[in-house]
Amino acid sequence: MKIVITGGAGFIGSNAANYYLQKKAEVVVFDNLSRAHTQKNLSWLTSRNGNLTFIHGDIRSNESLGKLMPFLKKADAVLHLAGQVAVTTSITNPREDFEVNALGTLNLLEAMRFLKSRAKLIYSSTNKVYGSMEDVPVVTKTTRYEYTDLPHGVSEFRNLDFHSPYGCSKGAADQYVHDYGRIYGLDTVVMRQSCIYGPRQFGVEDQGWVAWFLIAAILNKPITIYGDGKQVRDLLYIDDLVRAYDMAIAAGKKTRGRIYNIGGGAKNTLSVWREFEPLVHALHKKAIPVIYKGWRAGDQRVFIADIRLAKREFGWEPKTKVADGVQQLYDWIAQNKSLFR
Ligand SMILES: NC(=O)c1ccc[n+]([C@@H]2O[C@H](COP(=O)([O-])OP(=O)(O)OC[C@H]3O[C@@H](n4cnc5c(N)ncnc54)[C@H](O)[C@@H]3O)[C@@H](O)[C@H]2O)c1
Repeated sequence: MKIVITGGAGFIGSNAANYYLQKKAEVVVFDNLSRAHTQKNLSWLTSRNGNLTFIHGDIRSNESLGKLMPFLKKADAVLHLAGQVAVTTSITNPREDFEVNALGTLNLLEAMRFLKSRAKLIYSSTNKVYGSMEDVPVVTKTTRYEYTDLPHGVSEFRNLDFHSPYGCSKGAADQYVHDYGRIYGLDTVVMRQSCIYGPRQFGVEDQGWVAWFLIAAILNKPITIYGDGKQVRDLLYIDDLVRAYDMAIAAGKKTRGRIYNIGGGAKNTLSVWREFEPLVHALHKKAIPVIYKGWRAGDQRVFIADIRLAKREFGWEPKTKVADGVQQLYDWIAQNKSLFR
């Protein structure tokens, strides 16, 4: 199998690349290494001794895409993960966010259209395409907010409502990928991912909060909680996400042109501090300095993805329980402390 992974030196990309290297696939990683620590992920991938090709390129640049074309031409699958990933950065620099996420995706789609590519293209979209969902009733419990009427979470049939430049650029790309499947016959799958966490995630306060809280605890740095810490998210361990990509590719025609919510779902949720703190405390056994600040604009009280469509259509569901996944990430950070200095 030949697979191209844009953003392949990032958190999700390096885990996916490692998975396919282990499966003896020919893996092409395309990345501009703009995200901090990506060079470390790339060095780790290189040390795996598989069939890896690295292309240093920018998804916004025609010249870079020119270097990728021969590999795209032969690819059986493409994971499009390259992106500007933080809502906060998108607010300070909306043009760059648009160019990387929306225009970059269009560039890739055009390259694949030009090549009449038959590769399965998986796009890493986001649950942010559903917006802040202020009309959805929520109740307050002791440690968390809960949906009143959505026991399984938010389905793919929820209206799109892009909030923030990041929501707009990812949402535009989500719809472009879907439409290139319809209009030009590309074999596309859109995955609207919830919060993903796991090893090789160099989380920072603005993005990758599960990793960031654990890194901060281990490095003895204070963390900031915006709001009351009862906000609930569904969490998905990285290995389960990579398995979703692989199963969607293997499912062939069944997943062609489809859009799926991919997250931890209703069985894998946590409130960001009121329930996360006891979990971290049990692992770390030391108090973690916390600063509370006001709510961030557009912060959802709850987001839980309804992931039943993916199970029905290609048999995927998460396997890793939140407590186990958090323990694995904690152990990885503790064993690799030097990477974070
Ligand atoms: N991690 C999550 O919880 C999550 C949730 C929903 C969606 N996503 C999406 O999944 C994808 C991967 O996310 P991640 O968590 O691995 O983030 P990441 O920042 O670790 O990876 C993104 C990679 O893209 C590269 N990149 C950025 N701009 C580029 C450009 N112009 N050209 C080429 N490469 C570029 C970065 O260097 C980095 O290696 C992103 O598109 C993100 O929006 C992630």
